[in-house]
Amino acid sequence: MEIIIQPDAEAATAVASHIVSQLLRNKPNAVLGLATGRTTVGLYRVLAQMKLDWSGVTTFNLDEYVGLPPEHAQSYHTFMRENLFRHVNVSPENTHIPDGTSGNIVELCEQYETQIRAAGGIDLQILGIGTDGHIGFNEPTSSLASRTRLKTLTQQTHEDNACYFGGADKVPDHVITMGLGTIMEARQCLLLAFGAKKARAIASTVEGPITSINPASILQMHPKVTVCLDRAAAADLKRADYYRWAYANKPGWQKF
Ligand code: PGA
Repeated sequence: MEIIIQPDAEAATAVASHIVSQLLRNKPNAVLGLATGRTTVGLYRVLAQMKLDWSGVTTFNLDEYVGLPPEHAQSYHTFMRENLFRHVNVSPENTHIPDGTSGNIVELCEQYETQIRAAGGIDLQILGIGTDGHIGFNEPTSSLASRTRLKTLTQQTHEDNACYFGGADKVPDHVITMGLGTIMEARQCLLLAFGAKKARAIASTVEGPITSINPASILQMHPKVTVCLDRAAAADLKRADYYRWAYANKPGWQKF
């Protein structure tokens, strides 16, 4: 894992946007795994401003709420449309988000996996992290080998997302999410976390044991993960000085 600690979210987002834009320039037909949530809003804004060519890019989103139609204000279809897709020249037919209204979720999940494979696999998976350590909506105790499937949200996630729905009890209970096994097959992962609320989950993910109680910890087994943090999200890392030093002293050929 490469841990990049920046003074604030804006600076950490700038590093992340550089990694994504470099991929899109080097591989115009890249397959991107996309995440939603507050953490990614700034990244998508910066990427949209960069005027990159998205015409050959294919995208797969991590997750969607079960029961929300694509046009629902809080669906991740709407989030992606508003925050990224309508600002760039991506072809709508190349964007994929699980359909939360599907009548056959098991089949839909299998199809999603097949579509990812048919696209050649994901080159770069963008990830946020929940305060409970979820990536995608792989909540604590998710199988570390899981594939795209239905999951039930924890009480913590209901509370974390209550502001969008006007109360924790109004947050949908179920979601469709790529599995941890699915995420682990991406060729590169880019995890972003900002703010003190994420500090504990980040410390467990980077320096704790690999355990399904903290699903993001499986990323320790991934050969190419970059973690972009602001100072607050890095606050509980015991080896922060080492990560800062390593980043500041990267060999020239390794620099972005
Ligand atoms: P957030 O969500 O970016 O809104 O904090 C992250 C997540 O739940 O994965």
